[in-house]
Amino acid sequence: MRLIRGNVYDYPQYYDILFAADWKAEFRFLRACFQKHARRRVARLFEPACGTGRLLVKFAQVGYQVGGNDLNPRAVAYCNARFRRRRLPEPACQGDMADFRLRGKVDAAFNTINSFRHLQSQRAAASHLRCMAAAVAKGGIYALGFHLTPTGPPSCDEESWSARRGSVAVQSRMWTVKLDRRPREEWVRMVLDIHASNQQLRLEDAFPFRTYTAAQFRRLLAAVPEWELIETYDFTYQVDQPVCVTGQTEDVIYVLARR
Ligand SMILES: C[S@@+](CC[C@H](N)C(=O)[O-])C[C@H]1O[C@@H](n2cnc3c(N)ncnc32)[C@H](O)[C@@H]1O
Repeated sequence: MRLIRGNVYDYPQYYDILFAADWKAEFRFLRACFQKHARRRVARLFEPACGTGRLLVKFAQVGYQVGGNDLNPRAVAYCNARFRRRRLPEPACQGDMADFRLRGKVDAAFNTINSFRHLQSQRAAASHLRCMAAAVAKGGIYALGFHLTPTGPPSCDEESWSARRGSVAVQSRMWTVKLDRRPREEWVRMVLDIHASNQQLRLEDAFPFRTYTAAQFRRLLAAVPEWELIETYDFTYQVDQPVCVTGQTEDVIYVLARR
């Protein structure tokens, strides 16, 4: 087995096998959220840190106008190629979700699986929320999903997935190596084992996520008054079952409304 130590996002073909299969619950939930919470018709969507475009493509296929950005040029290229193959306009550009401006406003935006926690400082996170406020029209919404750090011990610090596409099988494990609440860093290690007919590959990565308690996120949000917190859900993606966020909550989707 060949071992590569590198950035998992530089291998969108394997990332996408793992995560693209898991689109339905998020897709249905987000559509239901647009319907329930937006105070305008939702036709234009934006996904910051869109990665391979696994969700954007599903929205485009049912008629939304979609756009996204991502820091990683390989993810952007993968996403745009996926759209080209379906004869859809290329939606993604390379960009920093903490420093961008859209040409026209969108009606809703979403960012679901911890990408927001890649922003390493309060300044970057606030800048992201301000960029999003400039991107979303009044009455529109932003659904932001990520893991909170509970004030007590976390209930789970390891996750694993496996998926197959054609002859390529990918297994992954991700676990917390170090949780440091003072500098607000959770160091995570991710290992992908890739089995294809002609090769076996192990991809190892380690990266920091910024940590948020529920109170820390509320304070961040208070610094960007263009956003009003209107509802909270968890990763079961049940739009008829909002949750109450407490100090112990671990996974949350904040629905923010653009004032
Ligand atoms: C967990 S993946 C999620 C991708 C996609 N949103 C999805 O749901 O599959 C996180 C993505 O965030 C991107 N990313 C990290 N920091 C970023 C930044 N500052 N601006 C834009 N994208 C960023 C990575 O390149 C990666 O594609």
